[in-house]
Amino acid sequence: MQSQSTYNYKVVRQFAIMAVVWGIVGMAVGVLIAAQLVWPALNFDTPWLTYSRLRPLHTNAVIFAFGGCALFATSYYVVQRTCHTRLFSDKLAALTFWGWQLVIVLAVLTLPAGMTSGKEYAELEWPIDLLITVVWVSYAIVFFGTLTKRKIKHIYVANWFYGGFILTVALLHVVNSMAIPVSLTKSYSVYAGAADAMVQWWYGHNAVGFFLTAGFLGMMYYFIPKQVGRPVYSYRLSVVHFWALIFTYMWAGPHHLHYTALPDWTQSIGMVFSLILLAPSWGGMINGIMTLSGAWHKLRTDPILKFLITALSFYGMSTFEGPMMSIKTVNALSHYTDWTIGHVHSGALGWVAMISIGSIYYLVPRLFGREQMHSIKLIETHFWMATIGVVLYIASMWISGVMEGIMWRAANPDGTLTYTFAQIVASKYPYLAIRFLGGFLYLSGMLVMAYNVFKTVAQGKPVEADIPAPVAHAHA
Ligand code: HEM
Ligand code: HEM
Repeated sequence: MQSQSTYNYKVVRQFAIMAVVWGIVGMAVGVLIAAQLVWPALNFDTPWLTYSRLRPLHTNAVIFAFGGCALFATSYYVVQRTCHTRLFSDKLAALTFWGWQLVIVLAVLTLPAGMTSGKEYAELEWPIDLLITVVWVSYAIVFFGTLTKRKIKHIYVANWFYGGFILTVALLHVVNSMAIPVSLTKSYSVYAGAADAMVQWWYGHNAVGFFLTAGFLGMMYYFIPKQVGRPVYSYRLSVVHFWALIFTYMWAGPHHLHYTALPDWTQSIGMVFSLILLAPSWGGMINGIMTLSGAWHKLRTDPILKFLITALSFYGMSTFEGPMMSIKTVNALSHYTDWTIGHVHSGALGWVAMISIGSIYYLVPRLFGREQMHSIKLIETHFWMATIGVVLYIASMWISGVMEGIMWRAANPDGTLTYTFAQIVASKYPYLAIRFLGGFLYLSGMLVMAYNVFKTVAQGKPVEADIPAPVAHAHA
């Protein structure tokens, strides 16, 4: 039994390192499927190497393995540091680590084998879904248990976001994964038809809102003020931001189902709530960026801060673009095109990955007893590789997507279509190649990070940080 006078950094270290590892794996699969779209022969006529099987492997690996490990690592660190107490249970925390790694390994084995429930971002079959539930309930017990034994009266806002993310993901996972198993590797959803679609996109959009946003906003509220050395710009705004965001997200899901069999009024509600969502999203972004006021000069010299602040800029961009795409007439053009893929990756590579990368660079030296990362210069190099990579990725997808959408709807005076499908696919090649290059650059940046992390870890040794002694009337 480890001492209660220190923080549990072991589980934070494990998750932080695995975030880097899974980031590389997930993005490597992304680069491979990006390459397959340019050179289809790269599937080598092998079923488990086909695009259809590797694509869900990519999304699961980057969202749940990379993003998930980054969220576990940072939430466990932040909840301990802001509550001045050790994690509620070391054993349960260890269970979440090993359980989550097992889920990921099972995903890596089953998805390429073609076992899937067919629900996007919830493809894993029912036995793995049950394992996820066990891990997630343990996570909730560790996180909220730690909050209940806190030594600081006030609950810092980052914990509100992490807590909201943990509770909501539990709810989403349980409701959307309800299925009737027919064998160990096959089940059928309990929902059918338009109701199934609505439940799926209630899940899908809130996976974006809570898995890919709320938890990462928790990171933003802790690591930006820490790295800048200033308190968050407006505490009041952060509270309004929290409640407005979680309330609004819940209703926006139908924007994924415009012009489908879903009742029209439901689609309109989705659109209206998506438009409203711009306000809390930008409130959060402004709160993060304005935390720099009075310290803007630090942005010139500190590459970790560059990652964190650039992440927020991409967050602002994608949460402006999303509401625009949810307008039905805009969606009529953007839906099914590469525009959506560009939007996804300005959120994923620009926001989710960059805020995680910045936070991990902050954490690693502190977890391994070093003053700072092995090489600040390499963080700077990584920053530029990532930034140029994401810009190449999203700009090429915007062009390709809008072009594709316009070509699809182009009609001759006699009403026949101007372009055949194959002609449109052929026009996309140059842009698909640029996306591949952008992705390759982004992945190469991750390898630079892995080297830098490895050197830092090799030169340091694991830290057992002391919990500060209680102070009368202590504040966070
Ligand atoms: C105010 C915030 C946002 C709104 C209103 C919004 C809206 C939208 C809309 C309208 C679509 C296209 C749906 C379609 O035509 O099928 C979409 C797709 C998507 N967005 Fe967003 N978005 C927002 C923020 C984000 C962020 C920050 C991320 C990532 C971190 C993200 C990830 C995604 C993903 C993954 C999809 C594709 C889903 C799929 O079809 O598989 N979104 N979003
Ligand atoms: C090197 C980095 C990456 C590359 C090269 C890459 C590449 C790709 C490709 C080629 C697709 C399929 C697009 C299509 O169907 O037309 C895709 C889909 C997707 N990727 Fe990535 N990706 C990368 C990183 C990430 C990261 C870090 C995340 C999340 C944190 C992410 C989330 C997604 C999602 C959610 C989709 C599905 C989008 C949709 O259906 O609308 N990707 N990615």
